Amino acid sequence: MSNNLLQGKNGVIFGALDEQSIAWKVAERCHEEGANIVLTNAPVAMRFGAINGLSEKIGAPVIMADATSTEDVENLFSSATAHFGGKIDFVLHSIGMSMNIRKKKEYTDLNYEFMKTTLDISAISFHRVMQTLWKQDAMNDWGSIAALTYIAAQRVFPDYSEMAESKALLESFARSFGYHFGTRNKVRVNTVSQSPTMTTAGSGVKGFTEFFNYADKMSPLGNASAEACADYCVFLFSDLSKMVTMQNLYHDGGFSNMGMNPAVLGL
Ligand SMILES: NC(=O)c1ccc[n+]([C@@H]2O[C@H](COP(=O)([O-])OP(=O)(O)OC[C@H]3O[C@@H](n4cnc5c(N)ncnc54)[C@H](O)[C@@H]3O)[C@@H](O)[C@H]2O)c1
Repeated sequence: MSNNLLQGKNGVIFGALDEQSIAWKVAERCHEEGANIVLTNAPVAMRFGAINGLSEKIGAPVIMADATSTEDVENLFSSATAHFGGKIDFVLHSIGMSMNIRKKKEYTDLNYEFMKTTLDISAISFHRVMQTLWKQDAMNDWGSIAALTYIAAQRVFPDYSEMAESKALLESFARSFGYHFGTRNKVRVNTVSQSPTMTTAGSGVKGFTEFFNYADKMSPLGNASAEACADYCVFLFSDLSKMVTMQNLYHDGGFSNMGMNPAVLGL
């Protein structure tokens, strides 16, 4: 259902890999609400080819960019503004990858070169995205920038490993850059702390299915789906959230404020 909440707005969406991806659902919902979209992902993601299907479905060009390459990100935003024939109204950062998790390294035996790659892809890329938008003066006033995060930035989830620190850094970049962007352009910057979601990145974490079920029981509303996250992102990109900035916003069915739910104990 469309309410034209994003009618005429221009948005760049990172991270749609396949139909499960949260970014995929966000792109579809933003399109439904009338936005013009540019999709982007790392060159390696193109190998799977799925993003082309989404591109055709919503009439959005794909501009490849490795989020760890300043040159790629610069080219992305200059090409996107040329495509739109104007500045950008919203950006979604939906990128995460842990080398140490991928290589099955325990938290007490992390490889620091892997860790640097993890932080670069999962967190520093968010600063790079914002710094490039800032230097190119590519954001329209009252625009909105959001990144996806997870509550492991605040609480301990042992199997989330170094992604916990990545998300803590990501959330801090949102606050710090939110100050600069707010002051200069009235652009807001927030992070959305999403429930566990069955995606490629999510299911890379050890014991993910068991954990997904636990979180679902613990949350009074159950886990928030990728579709619900897409709705929330539409709100954040719309003019209805103009004064919300520098926040970490929990989109988790209430999980973050629970101590214990009897349902978890089968009571
Ligand atoms: N799935 C969950 O349980 C969950 C929960 C909370 C937050 N998140 C966050 O949501 C975001 C999206 O993840 P998802 O669950 O949709 O999984 P996903 O695997 O579909 O998306 C991750 C994306 O990151 C992209 N990526 C990886 N390296 C890149 C690079 N160098 N440059 C550009 N893009 C790169 C991948 O190609 C992929 O599209 C991530 O930030 C993730 O941490 C996920």
